[in-house]
Amino acid sequence: MNNLVIAIDGPSGAGKSTIAKLIAKKLNIVYIDTGAMYRALTYKLLMNKIDFSDLSKIKKVLRQTHIDFKNNHIYLDEAIVDDEIRTNIINKNVSNVAKIKDVRLKLVEIQREIAKNKSVIMDGRDIASHVLPNADFKFYLSATPEERGKRRYKELTKNNNNISLEDVIKDMKERDKIDSTREISPLIKTEDAVEIDTTNKSIDEVVDFIISYVKRR
Ligand code: CDP
Ligand code: CDP
Repeated sequence: MNNLVIAIDGPSGAGKSTIAKLIAKKLNIVYIDTGAMYRALTYKLLMNKIDFSDLSKIKKVLRQTHIDFKNNHIYLDEAIVDDEIRTNIINKNVSNVAKIKDVRLKLVEIQREIAKNKSVIMDGRDIASHVLPNADFKFYLSATPEERGKRRYKELTKNNNNISLEDVIKDMKERDKIDSTREISPLIKTEDAVEIDTTNKSIDEVVDFIISYVKRR
């Protein structure tokens, strides 16, 4: 049987990773969270106090960085960094790392390598347009900025982060702007992608829609 390849793109908080994870489980395929990879690299650059404009240092870090997924955990140089990459400080910095050309070249290479010869569902910003342009199915998830902001706020305040809903929405809009206007592989909805507005939909409704869409074809 041929491998099944599903691409999911969309802005922050649209529900991509939650939905992709559930679909991967139901269809018994591999889930690849590309955003987590940009987050892990951002974490490493911040920990090492590397200036994002210092390209030679960034290239050196890229040569010495290993990012992988094992048993539903993200590994950065052999350490699990699941929690470290989900903080507000990473949210604020990640898009400025993700717009660097050398960063994208390296991470896209790893993403394609992980997806090779497997059935996968991969989520991100440039999956349908650039990473896996020949994917069998492409979905673009969207929701209003207010709804996306509320969802992210709920997650961030679980750990008692000292932050307001207004700030979360503001940061999210800023990140969306950088992601969709950057020069290399910006966030776009490709013509062949099916758009799903998740604003008033439950997680299960979106999962069921995608699964029945995939099974129909
Ligand atoms: O979870 P959330 O949607 O907020 O973000 P994410 O998917 O974890 O992605 C974090 C950031 O990584 C995005 O805001 C983009 O700047 C970058 N990213 C990207 O440039 N390309 C991808 N394929 C995935 C993420
Ligand atoms: O990956 P992305 O940034 O697109 O979104 P996510 O991290 O999967 O979802 C952000 C939050 O919204 C999570 O806490 C989900 O449980 C929630 N969510 C929701 O309430 N309703 C949906 N239809 C989708 C996600």
